Amino acid sequence: MEKLISGKVVSAKVRAEIKKETDSLREDYGIHPGLAVIIVGTDPASQVYVRNKQRACEEVGFNAYEYAMSENTTQEQLLDLIGVLNKDAKVHGILVQLPLPDHIDEQAVINAISPEKDVDAFHPQNVGKIMIGNYDFLPCTPAGVMELIDSTGIEISGKNCVVVGRSNIVGKPMAMLLLQRNGTVTICHSKTKNLKEICANADILVVAIGRPNFITADMVKEGAVVIDVGINRLESGKLCGDVAFDEVEPKAGFITPVPGGVGPMTISMLLKNTIKAAKIKNKLS
Ligand code: GUN
Repeated sequence: MEKLISGKVVSAKVRAEIKKETDSLREDYGIHPGLAVIIVGTDPASQVYVRNKQRACEEVGFNAYEYAMSENTTQEQLLDLIGVLNKDAKVHGILVQLPLPDHIDEQAVINAISPEKDVDAFHPQNVGKIMIGNYDFLPCTPAGVMELIDSTGIEISGKNCVVVGRSNIVGKPMAMLLLQRNGTVTICHSKTKNLKEICANADILVVAIGRPNFITADMVKEGAVVIDVGINRLESGKLCGDVAFDEVEPKAGFITPVPGGVGPMTISMLLKNTIKAAKIKNKLS
């Protein structure tokens, strides 16, 4: 049995479906899904993410609009641009790449994005909808993780699911999605006591703390599904996850690699949200 969960393979399937749907939206209804991506500053990792998002949009036939703003952009200038994009009928989704420079209030920026165009699902209105299980958009990384877990054929219902990390982007919504599927969910973080014992009891372990090789083999149950959301760059320049892959892999039932695991899925889910936004706008969903 193949225990490696390939985000590349699963995401290629998702993108092929999105491309087909995009073609039919264009041919049948004259609708061209459009995504605006805003980046402020020159953080190299963010620039890579934004370039990958744009390229993925073009591959499936979306219109991608990139707004690269200088590090010195004021909050007001950024809010003004979002105001314009909120009204632009060609733009169905708006994504502001995080993190933003320190002088900009991230939450104020998120709040300014029209909830109907909030393809990250970071707006409080969309976060609230996820809490009650009645949502239009799911946050991209947790939604991608759910697809990867489902690709294994493992049932989530009734399982011990442990999420390591409690960020608004990954950990918190991840826990909600697992809970909705009837997982028994524990969220761990930097103040958690007995982290090792809790992780070692997980049937499904999702790790998103941003610490290279943090999860070692002694923290993993034999046969567990291990999903590694971390992308860390070591001093050598090599990328590695939050899970010590080489020692955990023999013990895991299924495991995601880094890179090539969660990363490609996150972008596929962004595309999925953008096409959904275009359909909702045109009353097709
Ligand atoms: N920075 C890291 N992950 C994300 C994400 O999913 N969306 C945005 N907008 N910024 C990010």
